[in-house]
Amino acid sequence: MDVLFEEQGDITDSDIQSYKIVAKGTGRVFKIKRGGERKRDFTALYNLNLKVKAGEFVTIGGPSGCGKTTFLDIMAGLSLPTSGEIYIDGKRITGPDLNRGIVLQGYALFPWRTVRKNIEYGLEVKKIPRSERRLISDKYIELVELNGFEDRYPHELSGGMKQRVAIARALAFDPEVLLMDEPFAAVDAQTRETLQDELLRVWEKTNKTIIFITHSIEEAVFLADRVVVMSSNPGAIRCFLNIDLPRPRRIRDVRNSDAFNRITGKVWNLLHGDNATGRKGTAQSAYL
Ligand SMILES: Nc1ncnc2c1ncn2[C@@H]1O[C@H](COP(=O)(O)OP(=O)(O)O)[C@@H](O)[C@H]1O
Ligand SMILES: [Mg+2]
Repeated sequence: MDVLFEEQGDITDSDIQSYKIVAKGTGRVFKIKRGGERKRDFTALYNLNLKVKAGEFVTIGGPSGCGKTTFLDIMAGLSLPTSGEIYIDGKRITGPDLNRGIVLQGYALFPWRTVRKNIEYGLEVKKIPRSERRLISDKYIELVELNGFEDRYPHELSGGMKQRVAIARALAFDPEVLLMDEPFAAVDAQTRETLQDELLRVWEKTNKTIIFITHSIEEAVFLADRVVVMSSNPGAIRCFLNIDLPRPRRIRDVRNSDAFNRITGKVWNLLHGDNATGRKGTAQSAYL
């Protein structure tokens, strides 16, 4: 019983108050226009229901274009849903907030700031004194192994290094919620494993709520308490999988374990449509 399908069920008012993040019937329609055509509606997200507990590590996977980034942007407050609602701590999300750290696809670093200054950005906004900022940025520079690069500017870094700065910046101001959109996609395999381990370590210590989008089944399963599998046309949640691999997890121990390989194999089958029992609505609690 490694993977448990779970139905999210209806969202009640008391859910909205008791969960950290709640999406209730969340949808997003874009107006698109191609050439001389009239504008038409494109439904990128349709009726998403999701309840995330405080401290939960949720990964979101699904085919390219199924609306993962659109959903994360809505959780970040960078865009608003066109239908339904989205809540954090019982309050409607109306815009970005420093309580939600964001690591987007691509790096979005400030090009005019050095590595250290990028990492200290949120701390400056929070008016943390200079000496304390320095201690915190030292810690995160160390964590993402960028010692010696503190004074470089983003254009002087490789893609993987820029991504590590973006991660350090998000972690440094200690947000309660971390929203991460394929944050490790651009880094090399070895660095990726280090960052996966480090992210779990940070999460275990700090009890952050993390929403993490990834293309990689292995990454989704390794990190998550729960994997949200999305499907496209329109973008929707297909199913939830509870991952009950023991914790703490370290990639070196987990990667070659039978349980891990069994789960990732089954998720692969599910995503590729070989496993009809995985479809939402067919079972309350089916075991893969
Ligand atoms: N600003 C936009 N205007 C029109 N269509 C968009 C916009 N942003 C995203 N889309 C479309 O919405 C769908 C979901 O996009 P996205 O959330 O980026 O998918 P994913 O992150 O899962 O790959 C795609 O078909 C994409 O083309
Ligand atoms: Mg995306």
